[in-house]
Order: sequence, then structure tokens, then C-alpha cells
Amino acid sequence: QTIYLKDYAPTPYRIVSVELDFKILEESTRVRAQLTVEPREGTAPGTPLVLDGDELKLDSIALDGAPLMQSAYASDANSLTLVEPPHKRFVLETEVTLNPAANTKLMGLYRSSGTWCTQCEPEGFRRITYYLDRPDVLAPFKVRMSAPKSVAPVLLANGNLVDQGDLGEGMHFAVWEDPFLKPAYLFALVAGDLGSIKDSFTTMSGREVELGIYCTHGKEAECAYAMDSLIRSMAWDERRFGREYDLDVFNIVAVSDFNFGAMENKGLNIFNDRLVFAKPETATDANYHGIERVIAHEYFHNWTGNRITCRDWFQLCLKEGLTVFRDQEFTSDERSRPVQRIHDVQNLRTSQFPEDGGPLAHPPRPDNYREINNFYTTTVYQKGAEIVRMLATMLGEAGFRKAMDLYFERHDGDATTIEAFIKVFEDSSGRNLSQFATWYLQAGTPQVKVSDSYDAASQSYTLTLSQTNDPTPGEPTKKPLLIPVRFGLIGPNGSPLGWTGVSGGTVEDDLILFDSDSATLTFEGVANKPVPSLFRGFSAPVKLSTNLSQDDLLFLARHDSDPFNRWDALQTASTTLIANAAQGKAWSEDDVDALRAALIDTLENGELDDAYKAQALDIPAETVVGRYIGKDVNPDAVAAARKGLVTALVSPVASKLASTYEALASSDAYSPNAAQAGRRSLRNGLLSLLTTGSDRGAALAANQFEVATNMTDRYAAMAISVRNWTSEASALLGAFRTRFAGDPLVFDKWLTASAQAPDEDVIDRMRATLAAPDFPKTNPNRLRSLLGSFVMANPVQFTRVDGAGFRFITEAVAEIDKVNPQVASRILTGFRVLPILEASRREAGMTALQALKEQHTLSRNVGEILDRILAG
Ligand code: ARG
Ligand code: ZN
Repeated sequence: QTIYLKDYAPTPYRIVSVELDFKILEESTRVRAQLTVEPREGTAPGTPLVLDGDELKLDSIALDGAPLMQSAYASDANSLTLVEPPHKRFVLETEVTLNPAANTKLMGLYRSSGTWCTQCEPEGFRRITYYLDRPDVLAPFKVRMSAPKSVAPVLLANGNLVDQGDLGEGMHFAVWEDPFLKPAYLFALVAGDLGSIKDSFTTMSGREVELGIYCTHGKEAECAYAMDSLIRSMAWDERRFGREYDLDVFNIVAVSDFNFGAMENKGLNIFNDRLVFAKPETATDANYHGIERVIAHEYFHNWTGNRITCRDWFQLCLKEGLTVFRDQEFTSDERSRPVQRIHDVQNLRTSQFPEDGGPLAHPPRPDNYREINNFYTTTVYQKGAEIVRMLATMLGEAGFRKAMDLYFERHDGDATTIEAFIKVFEDSSGRNLSQFATWYLQAGTPQVKVSDSYDAASQSYTLTLSQTNDPTPGEPTKKPLLIPVRFGLIGPNGSPLGWTGVSGGTVEDDLILFDSDSATLTFEGVANKPVPSLFRGFSAPVKLSTNLSQDDLLFLARHDSDPFNRWDALQTASTTLIANAAQGKAWSEDDVDALRAALIDTLENGELDDAYKAQALDIPAETVVGRYIGKDVNPDAVAAARKGLVTALVSPVASKLASTYEALASSDAYSPNAAQAGRRSLRNGLLSLLTTGSDRGAALAANQFEVATNMTDRYAAMAISVRNWTSEASALLGAFRTRFAGDPLVFDKWLTASAQAPDEDVIDRMRATLAAPDFPKTNPNRLRSLLGSFVMANPVQFTRVDGAGFRFITEAVAEIDKVNPQVASRILTGFRVLPILEASRREAGMTALQALKEQHTLSRNVGEILDRILAG
């Protein structure tokens, strides 16, 4: 049941080459596979060959052209075994019949709005044919596919098109060949009646690559931004990492039913259509941003993932953490680096920290799992990216590039490990990274405490650091981590302070390498008492607490030369006030006045751009504050305290904010560019403050909803109204739904906003939405928009003391699990919040989970998540 990393062993047989033949018909698809197989060196004669299979029906089987006798093989639900294969190279031929239309799990070959498409990562290929379905088995693939021309004029697979033609009787065929060795999880095939846009890219060595994006007819124009993003990604990977594309074609297909964002299949990326389609009337700035990021991410996988892949699924963050780091860097270069950094850290704090601090905590490189699909997590992706970023921070830009060059050179064509990745960094830099590697192997967010003192007489300044790493499931004790602390000392007039010498630890320029439980660093020759700026650029994924006063924080907010830390100082200042108030410690008027003054200074600063200002004015969400409090959390109290603080901040300056809001209106034609998007986000940030903190916002929002000329402004007006449950909110939801009836991706926005209403009746409304006969119950986007947004972003109603929120979710999960276990288990992860809640809510949540366990037969996906949460 549980699979362990320590049990890893290569397969006794290798697959030399693969030829697949798909006959796609309306009723069913027949798959014939010819696998050329040979024993690996050292394999004993007579060792059985065990191929993976899942929900397959074997029609025929032959070895070297001769049908196999019944006694020579055995098949069960999950495998096909050749009892005694030849001890030499041989060809195994199997034939199976699939029913893609009935495949609601959306793994393997399935149909989405009539289009045949595949998803194989991590273990979907075994739902297509019997195979050694694991990432360390690499082979060249040749794929022949035939289908009726009427329903599938477009036939795509990995690699280059080598043949195509007519077969008569309305059928046609295509043959695709992928010369690059690849694991089965990168296999893809698409057949359907699709429109497309085409472009081309000339690589740095002068090769011409044909680019295509395929979509539902009529959506072609909405693929333009995705194409633009792809071309910029290709150019960036050449510039920044020297990586060139390697096939003659690169195709992307947008499909409507997809379990996650997108998939990097070699030469044939398949995307959830929400990450491809965009036009100003229906897509927000955030959607454009998301498209650019994910198009880049999947493209970058061609080198970090495909050319160099993972040895086993425990190594998932080898490709995902690294590729997320690469896509973050891409966006930083294309847009604003500080804004992107803040964005990524916000994301880490709102999703990864909660995972790392709860029952689902696991190391970025786990060592056991029941269901690998449950490990495509924010820890593997986002924390994995933070680990790579720390390497980049320690090595510097040139050192990091040198290491990456060595990685590509040494491991091209490999299925490799985290250990090999670390080794590359050690070899290229000469550093010993054995302690650093613990980041990959240990779960939990380190808590770093820092206090300081200054001795004027001796001009010496002392920083005392300590780190604690709380136990996580299965890891009662923890090792200290090597934590890079980028820092600066700021003098009373706001300019940097230097020092003449330092003792007590390792300091390289502006980087402290903090590697023990505690350390005391003494800086000599510090002319004045400094305010320390710590973890600049968020140099390590830790929770920091310091002895800095509110005044110190607000001083940093004004004077720190590091834009991330200026932002973070404001966040910490407001988080502390809200958290204290939620626990009965009211703020003083002085505290609020000082915070307000700092916020207004930021708003009026002529040097900061709008996107940055919007982030600075963003008061932390309830979930972030709840996480900061960490135990016995009462979300009602947190929500009330947050509203109280915003009201206290806004009241005296409401007219000023309102006039700034008006002044930021623009009549320019919509563009998704960073400057315009920043302006809109600042304006909508002000609208949010005015709506939460004054009685002016509701009407402004209702008006903005009416006059908006793009989805960013219209959606913001609705979502802000709903989150604050203004008197207009319900009407706006109604108007939005009518205006965009029939557009499924806009319906997702309606669902997302609806699920965040804080009023008591929200659960009844959601039940009604789900029960409507036309609600598409099998579409992941619809389900996640409604239910995912409720569990993650509506703490007040989800964690209700009467348990209604919890039961609504467990009941929905039980239903969805029968159709699509991956979607069900993802929604269930919202229960990871239970341990930090006050007892009555925690118990109500546990009761709902127990009922789910007792009353239903659950998938392995849901079963694993449920058991881990119940075990706490
Ligand atoms: N590799 C895909 C990506 O780019 C995601 C695959 C997700 N698979 C899953 N089973 N959740 O990130
Ligand atoms: Zn990825």
C-alpha cells in the first residue's frame, strides 16, 4: 500500500523502443502496442516482466510475432506479467480496447467536449496500454493514429510529423515520431475537430520551429496572448539559461476538462483552457499573468523535466521546484521583480506555510506515499522553488548559471535525483552542501527568532539568531538548517550602516549563513544604533519573529532599500495588530495613526509603481492572520478584528482614498501590460479598503461594476462587494451571471466569488448551485472554483461551529470521489486547517471527517488525505 523511496530499484528489463497504433472511433479506441524489450545487464534468466496496467482489457498478446499461450502470462487489475520472458531482445505486442468517453478520472485517454486527449503524468499511461509506467524507463516513441476525418481532422502526438494520409471510408491517419528518449508520463496524443493559430520561432542556432495553439473553433483569437507568451519564453530560456528548443514543432492544445493547470508532454503541451484563453471582456489581469506564467512553466520543462527527468516520483521537485523557480525568474524579468517576489511570497504564506504547519506536512522530497497524485503539492512546487532560490542566493548570478550549465551538460538524457542535483552545485561551486540538502528532506517551516542590541561605547552591534523546527507528522526531531539571511543595517537617517569586522558566525558580504540552533554575531565599528533589515528579498522560507517595535517596522517601511522588506514590514505591522485584537489585546490609537501614516506615505511616494503600492496597501487576509496566531483560532474574531483595523485606518482618510480612486480611473484602451494592470490593481485595492473600512465603498463598487470596460474591474467590483457582503452584493452576482451566461470560464469566476460570501446562507446557496440540473458535475474547473474557493478563502463559513461548512464539503467530496478522485482529494485538503482552530470548530471538523470515513468507500486519493488529517 505504501511505497518507499528506500525500495527503489531499476526495472530488470529495459524498453528499447515503442510503437503505438491508435484506432480512434466514436464508440471505442483500440490501442496496439509493440514494445521492443531486453533484459538489463545482471537480470537473471527467467525473471518475470511485470508491466503496469489500470482498467485495461487485454484483447490479444504476442511475443516475437507469435500469439502467447495462456500459461505464459498472467494479468490482473494492475498488471500484466510475462512469466518467463526470453533472455534476449524481444518484441511484445499487446492490444487493448479503451472507452475514452467513460473515463471521468481524466487520466489516460479521455474525451473533453468531443476531443480525444491524454494526461499521463504521473501514472496515466498504464490506463492506455500495458507498460513499465515509471519515469526511469526511457524510450523513443513512434505513434500512428487513425480516426474519422469528420470528428477528428486534427491528429497530434509528440515529436515530429513523419507521415499522414487518407485511408478511405472517411478515415485518415498520421504518424508522429519523437526521437528523444522519454518516460511514458510525457506521452501525449490529441485527436479532434479543432481550430488553431500558428506562428514560428527561430532558435539561437537558426533552426526554424513551427508553433501551433489548438482550441475549440471560434476561440482562436483568444489564444494570441498565450502565443506571445510562448515566443517570449523561448527567447528568455536562450538568453538566461542558454537553452534552445530541440524539435521542429511545438504544439499546445487547450482542453476544457483537465485535472490541473497544464502538462509539459514533449512537443505537445496540453493545457486547461482557463490558462490559454484571454480577451479583455472575460479575462482579468490575473488571468493574463497566469497564462504567461504557465505557458512559460510548461515550456521550460522541456529542459528541466523532459531532457532531464526524474528517476522516481519521490524526486518530483527536481523538475517542479526548479521549473517554478525558472518561471518566477521569467516573470520577474518580463515584469517587475519586487512585485513578483511579493506575489510569490504571498502565495507561499497563504498556501505552503499552512500545508507545512499542519497534518499534511511533508518534505519537498518525500520518502513514502500511498498515492503519488497527492504529492503534487505547494510544498513540492513552491517550497521546492524557494530551495533553488536559496542556492541562487548563495552562489550569486554567475555561480548559479555555472552550476546550471553543468547540470544540463552532466545530466542531459538522465532520469535523476535530488542528490545528483545538489552534487552539481557542490562540484561547480566547491561548497559543501550536505547540510543545505536537509531542506529537501525535512518538513516544516523553520521559525527564526532574532533579537539585537547595540553598545554605543564600543560601537558594537549584536544580532542573536535562533531557529526552531517543530515536529511534523513522522518527524519528531529536526536538524538545524543552513539558512541564508540576506541583511542590511540601517542608520537613524535611513541610510545604510557599515561595519569593520564581524565575529560569531559566517557572513559573506550581505549574507549570513546561519547553520546552527543559535548564533550570536557581533559587528564591530557600527557608528550608530541600526535597525536591522533581515531576510531581504525573503532570502529563506522561514517564519521570522524579531524584537522590532511597531516604530522600527514602520521605519523600515519608509527607509529600507530592499523593496520586499518595505512591503513585509507593513504586513508584519498590520498582522500583529489584527492578531492581537483577535485575541483581546486592542491596538492603541497611536499604533493605528502611525500605520496609517506609513501607508499613506507609500501611496503618495512618487518613486514606487502602482502594482507595488497596491501590494503595500493590501491588508493581510484572515487566513494569513489565523496562521500567524497559530492556535485556538476563532475566524469570526479574526474577521472582526481585520474589519476593525481597516475601518480605523480608513475612516479619517476616506475622502482622500476616494479621490485617489477616482484619479486612477483611465480611459485608455485595455492592455494586459504591467503598467496598466498595476494601476487597476491599486485602484481596486483602494476600492477594497473603502468597502471594508467605510460606507462609501459599496456604492462605488456597484457603480464600477456597471461602467467597467474590462473583466478585471468588473470582477473586482463584484468580488469586493461579495466578500464584504454589501447591500448590493446579491444583485451584482445576479447581474454578472446573466450578463455572461453561457461562458464556462466566466461562470468559474461567478462560482469563486459566490463561495466567498461571508453570510450564513452561503452554504444553502452553494448546495442549490451544485444541485441545479445543468451544473457540470464532472468538470474540475467548475468544482474547484466553487468548493476550492470556499475551503481556502471563506474561513468564517467553512469552519462554522455548527459544522455545516465542514459537512457541505465532506458530502460533496464523497460524491465527487466516485467520478474524479484527484479533484475530490484536492478539495479535502482544506481540512488541514483544523489543528489551529479553537476546540469546538476542530471537533466539528473531525466529526465530519469521521462520518466521511465511515459512510463511504473511498478512493486511495481521498483515503490517504483523510487518514493523514485524522492522524493529525
Ligand atoms: N507536470 C505538470 C506541471 O507542470 C503538472 C502535472 C500535475 N499532475 C498531477 N497529477 N497533479 O506542473
Ligand atoms: Zn511543472
